[in-house]
Amino acid sequence: PRPVPSALAGLLLLAGCAGDAPSALNPAGSGASRVAGLWWLLFWISVAVFVEVMALLTWALVFRRGDVRIRHGQPLRFVTVAGAGLPFVILVAVYGVGLRDLAALGDAPGPEALTVEVTGHKWWWEVRYPGASGATANEIHIPVGERVKVRLRTDDVLHSFWVPQLMPKTDLIAGETRETWLRAERAGSYRGQCAEYCGTQHAHMAFMVIAQPRAGFDAWLARLNAPARQPTTEAEHRGQQAFVQGTCAACHTVRGTDAQGRVGPDLSSVGSRWSIGAGAVPNDAGHLGGWIANSQTVKPGNAMPPQPVYAAQLPDLIAYLRSLE
Ligand code: CUA
Repeated sequence: PRPVPSALAGLLLLAGCAGDAPSALNPAGSGASRVAGLWWLLFWISVAVFVEVMALLTWALVFRRGDVRIRHGQPLRFVTVAGAGLPFVILVAVYGVGLRDLAALGDAPGPEALTVEVTGHKWWWEVRYPGASGATANEIHIPVGERVKVRLRTDDVLHSFWVPQLMPKTDLIAGETRETWLRAERAGSYRGQCAEYCGTQHAHMAFMVIAQPRAGFDAWLARLNAPARQPTTEAEHRGQQAFVQGTCAACHTVRGTDAQGRVGPDLSSVGSRWSIGAGAVPNDAGHLGGWIANSQTVKPGNAMPPQPVYAAQLPDLIAYLRSLE
């Protein structure tokens, strides 16, 4: 294949990914829009410089062959203007635009609708809302069209909070509280990812930002203050008993029960989460069972040791946890 048509085909393929792609070039929030604007500015400047250099090279090779007479003073002027002056102007302009965007990203207009507290752990995200008794994990609900402050801490090593479609990265540094903000212009689910290498399961430290209309968000937040759903079937009852009396409760919380562990994620709404293990596997009965029995085979190195669960208890535990929505 010829290089130029292939490159164009590649670009078209990339452009085709736009749709729902969790890409910084597919922004859905005011923060990411600025970054995308800066990216395209740099891209088109690079294209212009590339075309200009190629044109000069072609001209020199094709049309000036055998006619290389340099008059005194000419090359120096050309090198000064094209080689130093032009890059200087371009770099200063890009620097100015970059500074403007940096300031806007740090301090966007408007008061925050609310604050979300996000703590990075190896390898999952704890999500709390001030005033709400409950917590959730690996998913951040926000009201659409409103500015939400995100307060970031890490429980262990460096992580980086990145929602490509909404906001550029913010590093989480031990002992410090960092702040960023999110504002989604349209409802939807936006994938986030830890963007700083933090150990074996860095790749499986994903999360989802769910932007929903205000009424839906308020209802969701109210449930974060309420006790978890009570079991209704026999299996769910047995599952709850096994959960609360077994080792699960040492690390996990289910609101409204005796399970109040704070080491691992709050599981009060685990049945409705988008994944198990911060993006490691889909949230379905099979993967949940595998995770409970031995999560080390699913996400090696995670903090949950293999559980001594009686085979007979496993279906009950699955039924109970799946019912927590
Ligand atoms: Cu946390 Cu990478």
